Amino acid sequence: MESGFAIGRKLIKDIGHLVGFGAGAPGKLSGPEMRQLSVIEDAWLALEDGRVIGGGPMSEFPGIVDWNGLEVLEAAGRCVLPAWVDSHTHLVHAASREGEFVDRIRGLSYQEIAANGGGILNSAKALREMSEDDLFSVSLERMERLMRMGTGALEIKSGYGLDLESELKMLRVARRLGALERIPVKTTFLGCHAVPDGWNGPVDYTDYMVREVLPAVMEEELADHVDIFCEEGYFGLDETRTLLEAAKLRGLPAKVHVNQFKASGGVALCVEFGAMTVDHLEVLRAEDVAELATGNTMPVALPLCSLFLDLPFTQGRTLVDAGCALAIATDFNPGSAPSGNMHLAAALGCVKMGLEPIEALAAATTNGAAALGIESQVGGLGIGQEASLIVTRPLRSVEEALYAFGDPLPERVLLRGHWVD
Ligand code: NIG
Ligand code: FE
Repeated sequence: MESGFAIGRKLIKDIGHLVGFGAGAPGKLSGPEMRQLSVIEDAWLALEDGRVIGGGPMSEFPGIVDWNGLEVLEAAGRCVLPAWVDSHTHLVHAASREGEFVDRIRGLSYQEIAANGGGILNSAKALREMSEDDLFSVSLERMERLMRMGTGALEIKSGYGLDLESELKMLRVARRLGALERIPVKTTFLGCHAVPDGWNGPVDYTDYMVREVLPAVMEEELADHVDIFCEEGYFGLDETRTLLEAAKLRGLPAKVHVNQFKASGGVALCVEFGAMTVDHLEVLRAEDVAELATGNTMPVALPLCSLFLDLPFTQGRTLVDAGCALAIATDFNPGSAPSGNMHLAAALGCVKMGLEPIEALAAATTNGAAALGIESQVGGLGIGQEASLIVTRPLRSVEEALYAFGDPLPERVLLRGHWVD
């Protein structure tokens, strides 16, 4: 301890395993790099003004020179992980749809429920009837629940409005959640989520979204990305192309729902357009993997949707072995994934997608951040990154964090330098 270290407000010491620390952000990790997310055994981490300012092995701990206002936390036997980054959610919605859950248990499929006017259209009806303030308060409650589970950054989509006013209402609510500055919130305009009653079909409706709703969204600066449900029975390749072209002209990056039930060439189209991400991919063909291995478009797996709808799980192992930077998110929504549990999503990455625990952690943290373009800010605990982390309950190893898949993981959660109660 020759030089001493002017440490900031919080010091976490004797950490059993510290994940994601480094001189800078871990950033987007592709293929074999996903195994290289850093893990330091017996470590310390220093935080000041909501940022990481230092860390490393306890054997190199420089000592404390300034005790003034310093909070010291002993984390012996615990892991400290970067907070989760949930890069795909439909968190803003009016109400749950457990009636459809029971219908599915009784034998109806997700698509049959949708064809009977349930599904997304059911959520759209409820959302249109709810005031913006009420929508904000139910959504805030959900966001706070996710924060308590250790989620430190979120993406939120529209797509339950399906008309000008209601789409704007959803996105305004998402922006208001972000304006609280509790965690970073990125927003995505998903007007093309389903075709509501009164339209001839997806072509006319997409045209309306492009001509009237997208410009209004841009005018109010309500969206960071655009999305479309590219799927048989929803929106086809032509409509996807129309929307992505319009968005590209306006400089709006794309994150697209694709290959959830069927593969139809949507992946190749998205890669061609340089989409940031393609999300779902429950159905994945060899040519889709090849496209993703060559382009910059990141695949995002949503294992809670696979679990809930009993769909195939995205072939994570195959994508990582092909060199892709895979992200895992929850898809939190009332129809296909009514859970924002990133811990469970990451654990399913191991159990059902063939990822090693460190790869699943990378997918759910730094690669989730890269899927939102905020990897320098969150998703790791590199110097300068946000002080957003999970102190786990006592665990023997990082692997145990995902092996113990169903039990609560965090003992404490710190987001942007504040402890979450
Ligand atoms: O990502 N597949 C499209 N959208 C959502 C589900 C929407 C809903 O059922 O409300 C999803 O799975
Ligand atoms: Fe989704």
